[in-house]
Amino acid sequence: MTHFRYQQRELYCEGVPASSIAEDVGTPVYVYSRNAILDRYRELQDAFPQALICYSVKANANLAILSLLRDAGAGFDVVSGGELYRALAVGADPEHIVFAGVGKREDEILYALRSGVGMLNVESENELSLLAVLAKREGRQVDVALRINPDVDPATHRYITTGKRENKFGVDLETARSLLARKDLFGRLRVRGIHVHIGSQITSSDPYVVALARVLEFISIARGMGHDIDTIDLGGGFGIDYGGEDLASAKEMAADILPLLAKSNCRLVMEPGRFILGNAGILLTRVLYVKDHADRAQAVCDAGMNDLLRPSLYDANHKIWPVRVETDEDQVDVLKMSVASGGRATDVVGPLCETGDFLGLDRFMPGLEPNDLLSVFTTGAYGSSMASNYNSRPRPAEVLVTGKDFAVVTRRETYEDLVRREAGFVSR
Ligand code: LLP
Repeated sequence: MTHFRYQQRELYCEGVPASSIAEDVGTPVYVYSRNAILDRYRELQDAFPQALICYSVKANANLAILSLLRDAGAGFDVVSGGELYRALAVGADPEHIVFAGVGKREDEILYALRSGVGMLNVESENELSLLAVLAKREGRQVDVALRINPDVDPATHRYITTGKRENKFGVDLETARSLLARKDLFGRLRVRGIHVHIGSQITSSDPYVVALARVLEFISIARGMGHDIDTIDLGGGFGIDYGGEDLASAKEMAADILPLLAKSNCRLVMEPGRFILGNAGILLTRVLYVKDHADRAQAVCDAGMNDLLRPSLYDANHKIWPVRVETDEDQVDVLKMSVASGGRATDVVGPLCETGDFLGLDRFMPGLEPNDLLSVFTTGAYGSSMASNYNSRPRPAEVLVTGKDFAVVTRRETYEDLVRREAGFVSR
């Protein structure tokens, strides 16, 4: 995480001390590094030079970040009318937008058709039939990718496994074959792609290789049935380092994946989210109170599960460390500090009224005091995008750092924002 570094006992994002952002903007606040985002995008594009990289908007939908990626040449993977709206709002080329999702509503499909979205990834027979009707009614030719469920175990958390038979996503190979035989559906629809997305936080190429073999086999069947398939959409899912994972790099992934694709005569679409944003963001939170418990301290912070849901939902382990440290060692060494240096086991918890509201449990931390600033690392993806207003808490601000400058790219929500949609419903 080279764009987040400790220098002179203080955490920096690029050239800006994290503490100065917290002082200016308040906490909780998400802080993103522009150069970290761009470096990761380029790393992936270098590893897969021919691929159309459609950044997965769900990972972090902030408009400034979408603009940055659009300027860098990315397309977008969207899964709702709202995400499509965001992509179009930053001037994305609709041809470079793929619209996935297991439950698209009719109005969302119409919105996609009228916007000229490049490809709709279809996940069921019902959806394909609806799309055929709408394409005819609208008088439009529509490019479609069929999302198949290759029944592959991606070896990740069960909530982010999407390509096993029992998961709700895509259609199994037999159903896919019978769908392609429905000639009645394909007047205005052209099936040009096969889509898979087998899961998220995948750390090796093995599951991709297995899934791809099934995709390639299916493509030859589809071509045999007269469908002119020219696109493989491999979805997203490349894992990142949350702390000590044994990870294949993008280049290593490419070395195993690209040779398989070479003979397919297909263009490659990818839908990375976490890979690009995960390590490019941190969440800054302030310790409000410290309580002594029998065997540990409890640090109650001003960020909780409404700001960052991943620890509560997936038991995700995000590194947490003070923004100001007592030693000149860099962060990695600091994390290895022994208990002898004055630290103790600490539950880092949020302020919400839920026992499951925590940022990290049983962490070794230096002795924390009220007002200390903490950084929760690797929260650029699925942090702010999964934030909610639970407990009527305004959602946090977001800041984008570029070199020595930073800009607030999402202002903190206000109490007025919280009740705006209910205006007029107070009885007296
Ligand atoms: N494409 C499709 C069709 C997807 O469903 C997803 C993620 C992606 C691409 C991007 O996957 P990525 O490259 O980011 O792994 N909230 C969870 C992650 C859920 C991912 C859902 N789908 C988390 O915080 O770990």
